[in-house]
Amino acid sequence: MIGNEYCREVYMALWGGRFTQGPDQRFKDYNDSLKFDYRLAIEDVEGSIAWAYAIFKAGVLEAKEYEDLKQALNELLQEFGEDLDKIAQADDEDIHSYVERRLIEKVGDLGKKLHTGRSRNDQVALDLKLWCRKSINITLNSLVSLEKTLLEKSEAFSGKIFPGYTHLQRAQPVTFSHWLLAYLAMFERDYQRLVNAKNLLNTCPLGSAALAGTAYNIDREALAKSLGFADCTHNSLDAVSDRDHVMELLSCASICMVHLSRFAEDLIIYNSGECRFVELSDKVTSGSSLMPQKKNPDALELIRGKCGRVVGALSGMLVTCKALPLAYDKDLQEDKERLFDAMDTLDDSICMATLVLSDIQLNENKSVEAALGGYSNATELADYLVKKGIPFREAHSIVGRVVLYAISKEKPLENLSLDEYREFFNDVDDEVYVYLKLENIIAKRNVVGGVAIGQTQKEIARFKQILQSR
Ligand code: ARG
Repeated sequence: MIGNEYCREVYMALWGGRFTQGPDQRFKDYNDSLKFDYRLAIEDVEGSIAWAYAIFKAGVLEAKEYEDLKQALNELLQEFGEDLDKIAQADDEDIHSYVERRLIEKVGDLGKKLHTGRSRNDQVALDLKLWCRKSINITLNSLVSLEKTLLEKSEAFSGKIFPGYTHLQRAQPVTFSHWLLAYLAMFERDYQRLVNAKNLLNTCPLGSAALAGTAYNIDREALAKSLGFADCTHNSLDAVSDRDHVMELLSCASICMVHLSRFAEDLIIYNSGECRFVELSDKVTSGSSLMPQKKNPDALELIRGKCGRVVGALSGMLVTCKALPLAYDKDLQEDKERLFDAMDTLDDSICMATLVLSDIQLNENKSVEAALGGYSNATELADYLVKKGIPFREAHSIVGRVVLYAISKEKPLENLSLDEYREFFNDVDDEVYVYLKLENIIAKRNVVGGVAIGQTQKEIARFKQILQSR
């Protein structure tokens, strides 16, 4: 374990030459970022290995020096292992100074050569882009699991009738599969949005140095390729101060969290005592310490609640970047905590939604009962009248009066007799009951994207194709 005093000396050594006094402890606490940017440890070392090769190629390092640095950096990677948390305990200013100190401890003065032609400004810009790329890949994987579970459930519940709502008023019957496929469509767009974001951040800032570009003869294209980027950045001022990818990733995360919160809210309502259309597993609900009968949808409530955190991270980041002068400013250090937290929250929430969905039960009787109730077949009655030659506007008004009458009799439309119907319009026959049947209502919506079973099956097949290769 390195003593505090030694650390303090090294802390000063990064930029201490011009200073005659060490930093006030309160400033140091405020300024240091190691307590959160330790999460960039792997990326910092990966970038350093690539940089070591680049400056070797540029003639700054001998081959042996490059080999020694590479070996020491790889050893550091081994030592970090999976658990980066302990790095956060060190006293260094940030992850870049931490890695440099550890390297110097291993290889002595040679370690001091690595930073030639590099600045922490292009270094941190690189590290964060590498981190974003990894984080996007993790989120994409989690989204695929969620999408596959949605697909599986839409197949399992194919054709199961479910109440459809607008304004949270029962509107028209749908199927539970159709509801599931609606969320599948949203999460697929979230997937595509993240893929787009990954493509857009695919340029390497390393070699931009502090702001004006490195003074060494670095092959920046080759360096970019070696780190898996499509290209290098083409303006050094932009490269060190660009955090579009952070804003964009937070924006993708926010949209996905909004989708998740709607999914959660729907299920909270459907699971409520008032609805009971679905039953959540004991595994994702909790009880009350006072009321023994309670089974609360905590997992879903937390998904809904955590949406605020992620949207807050986005607005915070936008405000941090607003009116920020070129090029690098320390304000940009504020990008990390919220990004890390938002991406962790997003991934946890996607996984939680998948878990909730895996064990969900459909209460068919309650769902059909609700789909039948609330006069959600009233539009069909209007369509029936249209078929009998009554213009739709007029039909709409007649049906409105029929519904008012049915409510007063506490009867659903399908239980009104032909004689009762004749009070409102003469030309009525038994076919009206065919129109009012749930199955027929569903079957008639046979357009692309409609609720007819054949259409939802086509949609399931389309998604099977999409998800097959993932
Ligand atoms: N910790 C800093 C950050 O996250 C690293 C870059 C520091 N650059 C500097 N010129 N002080 O932004």
